[in-house]
Amino acid sequence: MTQPYEIDELISAKSIAARIEELCAEIRTEFSGTDKLVVVGLLRGSFVFIADLVRELDLPIEVDFLEASSYGDSTQSSREVRILKDLRGAIEGRDVLVVEDIVDTGHTLKYLIGMLESHNPASVKTCALVRKAERAEVDVHVDYLGFDIPDKWVVGYGLDYAEQNRTLPYIGVVAPND
Ligand code: IMP
Repeated sequence: MTQPYEIDELISAKSIAARIEELCAEIRTEFSGTDKLVVVGLLRGSFVFIADLVRELDLPIEVDFLEASSYGDSTQSSREVRILKDLRGAIEGRDVLVVEDIVDTGHTLKYLIGMLESHNPASVKTCALVRKAERAEVDVHVDYLGFDIPDKWVVGYGLDYAEQNRTLPYIGVVAPND
């Protein structure tokens, strides 16, 4: 079945890989002396990004995952954030790097930072592949940002539209077929 929309490439696989190298150089500089950084990926969208990021990072780390819901199968944002899957490991006294696929309104990341901080980690830093700066509704700091993008629905490289298109190697904008 053909999908009722087209996908226009916005960020190529090559540009993503190059930006990840740059981000990892910065993260390595900050955390090279850290005893086992905990990298927390936010499911489901960050699974591709985090896989590439931690391999490029090449530091002694632990990987854990959180899943929160803030969107259904549409492109509408809902403000309520619920935890669907909690961390497996303890983060008390540890340095934590939260890895998000996309920061849209910022509600999800802000809520999760607060939740992680309530476990008394040594520090919480944030990394996001893309951010729609125009859509920001809350103030949330991204320490390591891949790209600022326009206010369009994007898919690929882990990001979905109604659970489709996560496996595209690039990031593209969803454009309705005429
Ligand atoms: P926020 O709480 O509004 O910042 O939303 C963050 C979440 O919304 C992300 O983790 C994604 O799951 C989802 N999201 C927002 N915009 C997009 C998009 O353009 N493509 C795919 N998912 C998106």
